[in-house]
Order: sequence, then C-alpha cells, then structure tokens
Amino acid sequence: MRQALIAGNWKMHKTPSEARAFAAELAREIGRERETEVVVAPPFVSLLPVKEALQGSSIKLAAQDTFWEMEGAFTGEVSPPMLKEVGCHYVIVGHSERRTHFGESDEAVNKKVKALLKVGLRPIICVGERLEQREAGQTFSVVKGQVEGALDGLGAQEVSEVVIAYEPVWAIGTGRTATPQQASEVHAYIRGLLKEAFGEEVAEGVRILYGGSVKPDNIDDLMAEADIDGALVGGASLKVDSFSRIVRFRRSG
Ligand code: PGA
Repeated sequence: MRQALIAGNWKMHKTPSEARAFAAELAREIGRERETEVVVAPPFVSLLPVKEALQGSSIKLAAQDTFWEMEGAFTGEVSPPMLKEVGCHYVIVGHSERRTHFGESDEAVNKKVKALLKVGLRPIICVGERLEQREAGQTFSVVKGQVEGALDGLGAQEVSEVVIAYEPVWAIGTGRTATPQQASEVHAYIRGLLKEAFGEEVAEGVRILYGGSVKPDNIDDLMAEADIDGALVGGASLKVDSFSRIVRFRRSG
C-alpha cells in the first residue's frame, strides 16, 4: 500500500518571516497528521526558518530545486548536501516553470536526480505535457520522454526512492484541472513505463502525484483514482485552510 503524499509548492511566495509564521500555523493545524505524508517546499531562504517552525510536527521539508554538483564555483546555485543539512527530505526537480523559464532539460533533471539520490534526498520529478502537445495527441510520448530522461541510468533500487508528479502544464495555475480520468490514464501509463523498465515491485511502490489546480473541491475525486497517490499543490498550498482540507481529503471506500 502506497502512503498518500500531499506536497505544497510555495513557489516564489512568502518572505522568510512570513514563511516561518505560516509554517507554525500549519504545524498547529495538520502537524500531527500520520496517515498522509505532508511536505512543504518553501523558497531556499526560508528552508531554515520553516524547518524550525515545523520542529516536533510530522510535516516534512522539501526544496524547489537543486544544482547537480556537490560544491564548486557555481555562483547562485545550491547543492544537495546543503539541502540535506538544512533538513530537507525531498527536492522538487524539473518543474514545468523551471523547464519553461530556465531552459531545464531532461538531461539536467537526470543529473539532479542522481545527485540527490547520492546524498539520500528523494527527488519529486515533475513531468507533463503542454496544451498544444495534448491537442496534437502527444501526451503519452512527451511524458514517456520526460520519465525516461529523468530516470536514465538509474537502477531499480534508486527508482524506488523517487516520487513522480504528473502536472499537465495547461492545468498549472490556470484553474483548469485535468479530470480524474484524464489524470488517471496518464498515471497508469507512467506506472506501466516503470514496470517495463524496473519491474512490478518497483512500479507498485513508486508514488505518482497529480499537480495542476488541485483545490479542496477536487482533491477527493482525484484521490479516489487508484493510480493517483497524492498531489503537488501550488496556489492552494498558500492558505492554511485550503491546504489543510487537501491534506485531509476524504478517502473513498
Ligand atoms: P497550482 O500549481 O496548484 O497552482 O496549479 C501546481 C504546481 O505547479 O506544482
């Protein structure tokens, strides 16, 4: 049985003091959650204050990106060992905003995934098609290229450490969610790819999150799908009430 995972991606929101206060509120509201794994991903400069505010709660910390080298002359970058030391468990990689605005390639995502695994951090790998790709019937081939690119050269043991987030780009920040059926068929397809490449046991263990306009009013239906194991939440993770409601989605059955 895969444990549900709800991750809040704060993107470039909240200053360190705002982030600390917000995390303290979250810790009070959902900090004893055990059934669902809860993760928040603040900007780099807020990782430490948020870590402190989450002390004693079950909420885990993630970063929104990393560089793939462990140290060196790479002005402006942050390395996996640095993220590990400030208390991150997870790191988001390959978010569509990084692919679109910062030219991040599948090759770069792959290097980041490998670097994170080397220090014991778990990557949350984002994949997903753009609207014109969906309309051209390329959803599966785009997602296949991104998944295979991100996992290139990894062994089954390493793949069992990763989380994949399917985020159709046309659904991010637009209020336009994929229907549970649209999401579910891509999730099942991704699980099929994992099974082919790494075997049934690995494929059954990897959590595949959905992301893209997840809100309190659609989370229950999304989570009712067998292959949707959680959510990567942007906008709705910035308010205590909406994020808490998403974390406490209603389990069907
Ligand atoms: P959204 O963002 O929930 O605001 O659509 C999701 C994401 O980009 O991870």
